[in-house]
Amino acid sequence: MPRLSVLPTLLCAAALAACGQSTTVVATRTATDAALPLVLVHKSPTCGCCEAWIDHMKEAGFPVEVRDVDNLDAIKGRVGVPYAKGSCHTAEVAGYFVEGHVPAADVKRLLAERPAAKGLTVPGMPAGSPGMEVPDGTVQPYDVELVAEDGTTSVFSRHPST
Ligand code: CU
Ligand code: CU
Repeated sequence: MPRLSVLPTLLCAAALAACGQSTTVVATRTATDAALPLVLVHKSPTCGCCEAWIDHMKEAGFPVEVRDVDNLDAIKGRVGVPYAKGSCHTAEVAGYFVEGHVPAADVKRLLAERPAAKGLTVPGMPAGSPGMEVPDGTVQPYDVELVAEDGTTSVFSRHPST
């Protein structure tokens, strides 16, 4: 029997996601993309905009698992969200954290580039970011910040991108 080499983390996550869908896979707009790793979202039970961001990630093809927790600060501390860079929910994906209303496209870019970093954050809750849309379509300009291993931040992307 051939000995299996160590699979990349991404492939393992994709295989697990595929297993989880078992026999009820239906091709819909929200079907998960088997190439994308699981997004584990920690949020408070009462957060509505968190649900909207979760929908945004699902529509982008990510498999998502949600955990309602009472103390998000403990999780932010564990994954390394810097002080004053936090938002309403904290997600984990492929060894990175994703804090707040980060666009799915930025998460996909993070996973493609795999920089040496702790994660991405959109501090606060800017109007017009994914899950924070407002009826008149206004987007309050905001940056997605990359958090380095030492906790310093740099601009990863600007929105709107024009
Ligand atoms: Cu929010
Ligand atoms: Cu949230």
